[in-house]
Amino acid sequence: MTTTFPLEQFQLLRTPFYYYDTQVLRATLQTICEEKEALGNCEVHYAIKANANPKLLPIISSYGLGADCVSGGEIEAALNAGFPANKIVFAGVGKADWEICLGLDKGIFCFNVESVPELEVINELAGTMGKVANVAFRINPDVEAHTHAHITTGLAENKFGISMADMEAVIARASDLENVRFVGLHFHIGSQILDLEDDFLPLCERINALQDQLEQRRIVVENINVGGGLGVDYEQPESHLVPEFKRYMHLVASHLKLRSGQTLHFEPGRSVVAQCGALISRVLYVKQGTDKQFAILDAGMTELIRPALYQAHHKIENLTSKGDLEKYDVVGPICESSDVFDKGVCLPKVSRGDLIAIRSAGAYGESMASGYNCRALPEGYILEELI
Ligand code: LLP
Repeated sequence: MTTTFPLEQFQLLRTPFYYYDTQVLRATLQTICEEKEALGNCEVHYAIKANANPKLLPIISSYGLGADCVSGGEIEAALNAGFPANKIVFAGVGKADWEICLGLDKGIFCFNVESVPELEVINELAGTMGKVANVAFRINPDVEAHTHAHITTGLAENKFGISMADMEAVIARASDLENVRFVGLHFHIGSQILDLEDDFLPLCERINALQDQLEQRRIVVENINVGGGLGVDYEQPESHLVPEFKRYMHLVASHLKLRSGQTLHFEPGRSVVAQCGALISRVLYVKQGTDKQFAILDAGMTELIRPALYQAHHKIENLTSKGDLEKYDVVGPICESSDVFDKGVCLPKVSRGDLIAIRSAGAYGESMASGYNCRALPEGYILEELI
């Protein structure tokens, strides 16, 4: 499979914009569904934070996935896109009261709880609404994910989750409360993980040990949620348009010692949508520096903040030119020196007006866009509406 770029239609659109090849998205979703079926007793919740574009969400929900939400706004977006309430999980260290009430009112599957004070507030609000809330505890497994420091979450010093040492006490606290029901354990060690064995096997071992510990106390866990984190190939997107879902899901399922009747949950975000998306931009100017030349785009860190925030690398392609290769620093128009997409990039000779694609931008691109410098938020177009 290759990515389709409808260039003639691109010429008619105002840049910058996000473009999503829905054939790539559908192939990815199909792969996920096949592996989910093969495993049985498995649920996949798409992490809405990766991309909440209302044109993409209904496609994702149509494959029977659930949703992983981290705000009331995401719960609303998920429901509007057809994700069933009973397949929505709600995570986050700081759930506001109105967000908890929204989740209770809509009857979401479960709250992934990150602290005792939060558990108590959920119990109290559920009581006032005459409901019982399903809760899973997010346990911090103290497993290191070998990824960028800003996106690892499973280490002991992170703000996320409940420590393993406190796990039993928290479960005991839940059993004392009338309006919450303990339904599972939740984990998430980080994002953009490519060393599957190195990072996910220690997580599986840790979960197995915790399950043994709970079993001795006759505590039953109905659901094990291993979070998200599967990485994508930012260097060669075209060779790996569909990430390694089969290997990843199989590896986790085969190393976890699931008890009978237990359901395994995954929460992938990036791996579902990254490769189908590209940020499409026009070259405004080619500027000669002393020792280098700059390709100045009409897209900047306001549309795609990942390079500036995490020094993330996205492949850059010139969709217009077939000229000889030259080296460019590819930069945006924002008044910040970190507004650089990449330095020393070899591109076919760049001229004003060329269309540039910044690849693998479907995840944490549009959803993290900002209006800094009074810029308009980017539009997002899907393949179907352009051909
Ligand atoms: N579940 C939980 C509890 C999470 O915190 C996350 C992501 C996911 C699932 C989805 O993880 P994924 O499959 O996408 O790795 N903005 C950053 C990534 C932040 C990830 C936050 N949590 C980036 O652009 O790289």
